[in-house]
Amino acid sequence: MSDIIKIKEEYLNKLKEISDLKEINQLKSELFGKSGKISNEFKKIGSINPEERKTISSQLNDAKNELHNLIEKKINDLEINEINLKLKNERVDVTLPERTFNRGKIHPVSQVIDEISSIFSEIGFSVEEGPDVENEYNNFTALNTPENHPARDMHDTFYLDKNKKFLLRTHTSPVQVRTMLNGKPPFKIIAPGRTYRSDSDQTHAPMFHQVEGLHVDKNINMGHLKGCLNYFIREFFEVDKIKMRFRPSHFPFTEPSAEVDIGYELKDGKIIIGEGNKWLEILGCGMVHPNVLKNVKVNPSKYQGYAFGIGIDRLAMLKYGINDLRAFFESDYRWLSHFGFDPLDVPSSYRGLSR
Ligand code: PHE
Repeated sequence: MSDIIKIKEEYLNKLKEISDLKEINQLKSELFGKSGKISNEFKKIGSINPEERKTISSQLNDAKNELHNLIEKKINDLEINEINLKLKNERVDVTLPERTFNRGKIHPVSQVIDEISSIFSEIGFSVEEGPDVENEYNNFTALNTPENHPARDMHDTFYLDKNKKFLLRTHTSPVQVRTMLNGKPPFKIIAPGRTYRSDSDQTHAPMFHQVEGLHVDKNINMGHLKGCLNYFIREFFEVDKIKMRFRPSHFPFTEPSAEVDIGYELKDGKIIIGEGNKWLEILGCGMVHPNVLKNVKVNPSKYQGYAFGIGIDRLAMLKYGINDLRAFFESDYRWLSHFGFDPLDVPSSYRGLSR
């Protein structure tokens, strides 16, 4: 048997076995590639004596054509198979019912934090953040809170170590310290976030939210504090007039200190903010104590300022008529779909931005 016939027989057999595109392309190059078996036979033709040359070349051409056609046909078939298989697998059954999907809701606390941030940013406050885990220096010492102060008590504070060096911050006031230590006056910031105290009943949760405010500059006085809070309460509750009272109070880090109540009345079981003669405490505030300024390297004879800390959860409850604080943190989906906010709705408090 001539070499050509041998090659032909061998590859015709191989072809029968193959059902994979990669393998067949491999086989194609074994035959017709640069030093493929058929290509090599063509190279030999020049050296064959003239009598035989004619028959051998026509034999070779026949073999080449036969193999070539079979290979191309097989490649074509395999490609079509592959496409058909893909079409079959990727077919979309348009008669299937659609999948249900739930759109998430924005938690009232997140919503209120956004509202508060946008109201304060309109009058030049920027938003700062601090960590939930604080050291006792930022949470107490720098804030002029002496070693024996009741706020440092185990009953109020979650300490994270035996030496009481680390704790879950009991208020957002340590962000005042962080902000002033990291920058130069003037400061005009708010700092919303989580805070922790060892407390739990219908109006107190061990984790709750506050927003701190701090404005330090030359010539800042209590009038500015009052004006700022009055503006905030009116914007937040969307009322034109608000009854507000400052009650003398005590915080180690402010002097003088005050607690602020807002006036409200109950009409048909609903709370109406800004009217009536009932009072509700919503925040603590005061003029930043000179010792605090000294602790953060701000000169108290040049700079002064006010600070406030507002309970966010309380505000959210009041504005949106939620009466149990604990529900905020129970992660009950049904509760959230009732009290949560649609992410695509623009809250009314943002209206101010386009005014
Ligand atoms: N940090 C105080 C609290 O948690 C509130 C407060 C902040 C008071 C800033 C005065 C100034 O009760």
